[in-house]
Amino acid sequence: MPVSRPRIFRPTEANVTRLANALRRGAIVGVPSETVYGLAADALNAAACAKIFEAKGRPSTDPLIVHLADAGDVEGVAVSNPGAMRLARQFWPGPLTLVLPKRAVVSDLVTAGNATVAVRVPAHPVFQELIRRTGRPLAAPSANRFGYISPTTAFHVRDGLVGTTLRAVIDGGECAIGVESTIIDLTDPDSPRLLRPGGLALEELEKAMGCAIPRPRRVRLGPAEAAPAPGMLSKHYSPRTPLFLHERLSSKVTLNIPGNEAVVYLRRPSGSAAPWVPGARVFWLSEGGDAAEIAHQLFGLLRKLDLGEWRALHVELPHGGEGLVPAIRDRLFRAAAKR
Ligand code: TXA
Ligand code: MG
Repeated sequence: MPVSRPRIFRPTEANVTRLANALRRGAIVGVPSETVYGLAADALNAAACAKIFEAKGRPSTDPLIVHLADAGDVEGVAVSNPGAMRLARQFWPGPLTLVLPKRAVVSDLVTAGNATVAVRVPAHPVFQELIRRTGRPLAAPSANRFGYISPTTAFHVRDGLVGTTLRAVIDGGECAIGVESTIIDLTDPDSPRLLRPGGLALEELEKAMGCAIPRPRRVRLGPAEAAPAPGMLSKHYSPRTPLFLHERLSSKVTLNIPGNEAVVYLRRPSGSAAPWVPGARVFWLSEGGDAAEIAHQLFGLLRKLDLGEWRALHVELPHGGEGLVPAIRDRLFRAAAKR
């Protein structure tokens, strides 16, 4: 039997209607969002959601985010509170996910048996339209094989999920942000907990909430400038090619790296060979070091380099705790984690 390859659909009205109907019948569909591409199913249909876990190879202990068309739909799936709704009004649609107590309609499969459910209103107009036309909340994790780099184009989704039950991906262009949403647990509104730094800056959340959010524990690189010790972080977002992190790259550091290993600067290094020159192995994630540009390029470049013949990838870490920097650092540390 030929291996099935998901088909990419342009986001026309007819195609969105067709794929909304497929979702209503229990299919899974690849969808664009402003953060990363998602693998969506009707959140109220457990059999449909089971297909997500199967296609991704995701363990059933890892719960899914439920996507809504509007903040007013939260009460249908979760028990909200005034603090949560204040954040929702300010930051939705957008890259913020709220964890709240769940309602019984949401299946245990979606929440991995937890008493809570993660909810988000995505900002991508095609995703919003799809939710509206389906008329259901849509459960969607990132549309990558479990543990691999998240997809930021429809092509990433298609190429990564060949041979699964996924038949359709809607092409909504490159994801504007390029890293996943910020997740905050507001189950107890008096003690918000950051579960994942992401596309919404922590300082924005802190300003809106009027209190400090404890940051994730800061991971330090060992003296060998290698990845952190195993066990400190769970492996995720990982290319197959071994990845090493550097607090700072320079031409001196680069000269000491073997020629069959790729080197990824945060900003264009002055005087370096352009990456399209045959044999060149120096790449960069932005022109001038802007964190939003780095986040936007990160997963796409890692995927591209992973298709090359590189023995290893060496990536420079951004510094600081503002904007998208905590999210980028988090993803890079997990990508480099040994297990
Ligand atoms: O930007 C995003 O958040 C993307 C787009 C598609 O919306 N989605 C995404 O989903 O990144 P995923 O499944 O790759 O990551 C969601 C994370 C998981 O690590 C999961 O453990 C956590 O959210 N999560 C989901 N429900 C949760 C819950 N009830 N309690 C705690 N964590 C939860
Ligand atoms: Mg993911």
